[in-house]
Amino acid sequence: MKLCVALDLPTSKENLDLAKILKNEDVWLKVGLRSFIRDGKSLLEELKAINPNFKIFLDLKIYDIPNTMADAAESMARLDVDMFNVHASSGKKAMTMVMDRLSGMENPPIVLAVTALTSFDEASFSEVYAQSIDTKAKQFAKDAYASGLNGVVCSVFESQLIKSNTTKNFLTLTPGIRPFGESVGDQQRVADLATAKQEMSDFIVVGRPIYQSNDPLGVTQKIIENI
Ligand code: C5P
Repeated sequence: MKLCVALDLPTSKENLDLAKILKNEDVWLKVGLRSFIRDGKSLLEELKAINPNFKIFLDLKIYDIPNTMADAAESMARLDVDMFNVHASSGKKAMTMVMDRLSGMENPPIVLAVTALTSFDEASFSEVYAQSIDTKAKQFAKDAYASGLNGVVCSVFESQLIKSNTTKNFLTLTPGIRPFGESVGDQQRVADLATAKQEMSDFIVVGRPIYQSNDPLGVTQKIIENI
């Protein structure tokens, strides 16, 4: 299991300061909407300048018509990121086009599909999708698998279900982690490290419990020791 640290801080400087603190740790860095919209490609370059071995996950959760998604996927791959994601609800045609577009590239990034956001509880999820989280997440994962993606973003609680409906090598990346029972914020389906391990998550995403802590390095090292 790998730790992916969310760089969701209010300024580029704060993200870069956190990356410097984590410079010698075996972590992935997640650049999401807030940071990428504000700081763009130069943030990715500055992170690689801090440590060229940092692995970068560009978490933009793209959703659009198939051709636009394939174009965007190609552009993201050219940013030299190691992983990015799309919404599974964009459908098999769009996801297949994305993978086709990357297939000729050297070292294409890992591509994940977002199933059910971890901020949804059952009631709010069913208002949008008219189905239970388990049923829909399983269907989204099967669609992503059939389209040739490498894995999905899901909550810890769907990780095993998804692997048993695809293959155990189909990656699961699970946000909503509160490693040692920290406050949940806007997340709903949260889990601690022990549960993430038990449910076979390949990547855990941790944001606020690290960057809002007084000792981000200490928390990161404690997480790494426990995974
Ligand atoms: O601060 P916290 O640990 O809750 O951060 C979780 C991160 O994972 C955020 O950057 C959020 O955008 C992202 N994420 C999520 N749920 C998903 C996909 C991504 O929380 N399903």
